[in-house]
Amino acid sequence: MKKRVLITGGAGFIGSHLADKLLASGWHVVCLDNESTGFAYNVNPQAEYYKADVRNSAELDKVFRKGVDAVFHIAGQTSTILSFTDPKNDLEVNVHGTLNVLSKCLQYKVSRLLFASSMTTYGFPEKVPIHENEILKPVSYYGITKYAAERYVHATALRNDLDFKFFVTSFRMFNVYGERQGLNNPYQGVAGIFIGNLLRGEPITIHSDGEQTRDFVHIEDVARAWILALNSSEADGRVFNLGTGVPHSINRLADTVLEAFGKSRKDYPVRYAPLRPGDQKNMVADISLVRKTLGWEPKVNFNEGMKRTIQWAIKHDATTVKTEKTT
Ligand code: UD1
Repeated sequence: MKKRVLITGGAGFIGSHLADKLLASGWHVVCLDNESTGFAYNVNPQAEYYKADVRNSAELDKVFRKGVDAVFHIAGQTSTILSFTDPKNDLEVNVHGTLNVLSKCLQYKVSRLLFASSMTTYGFPEKVPIHENEILKPVSYYGITKYAAERYVHATALRNDLDFKFFVTSFRMFNVYGERQGLNNPYQGVAGIFIGNLLRGEPITIHSDGEQTRDFVHIEDVARAWILALNSSEADGRVFNLGTGVPHSINRLADTVLEAFGKSRKDYPVRYAPLRPGDQKNMVADISLVRKTLGWEPKVNFNEGMKRTIQWAIKHDATTVKTEKTT
């Protein structure tokens, strides 16, 4: 019988790609999502799908009860901005939701959990590229809840009162982008925001001077790392950065997107606006640990990844975005 993996947030951008990869490698995939930012149409038809919320323990139980061998816990409130405007929701989804998932893993003795942590746990790092040993001082409420959830996951695995071995791994993901990324959600990922702006002919807004940097990592590379970790005993108890080690400024991102649409900052409305709370400055990952431990290497470079994402976005916009806007 096929092993069963549960993906929380399985209708979202990252979760749905993981589902595709897991199905291709022979797993039975169960996806769970509350569709707050995900879409049921993202879920691979070969996956079992439940509309359910990680904040609701009873809903989780219905899914766990059917048997789960491994969990990819991706579901989360992902917006830094919304973590400030609605901190209780951020706390409930990211921390209480994670505690609910952990509690079900303990109840049903699920031996493997992989968790979606975030580079926002670092806040303003002392040193870049950022190593996993950097002190964690998140500067956004979102970074705090991701940090707390990550610690809950790892502290649970270390509990000496468990009567089964609980293998956990976390990925502190940097800026994941790619096909299926949100294009019309102002609170989700700057690459999708800029592409969405261009598709709708809206001005681009750059916060601060645009010289802040991000480490953009393509979803295909991210998904490959998760699968490698699932199958590696070396990943037990580990926290890995997931980026490329190459920084790009937000101005450079804007130029890349504008150029793909045959525009430039000279002939397209680009506004500069103040920096928002919790915004980080220069973020780039030291990926030596994940390279060494999992033999993982990012393969999709920035230019190629952005080209692929923009091509997908243009096609997607012509078919579905208009429906999404009205729902
Ligand atoms: C992002 C994700 C976060 C994830 C983290 C690591 C969002 C909202 N945040 O954080 O969930 O954990 O990466 O993967 O998805 N910017 C503009 N104009 C815009 C939008 C953004 O200039 O219209 C700037 C921001 O001010 C920021 C940078 O672009 O400096 C990146 O923004 P964004 O992708 O939204 O969030 P991160 O803080 O990088």
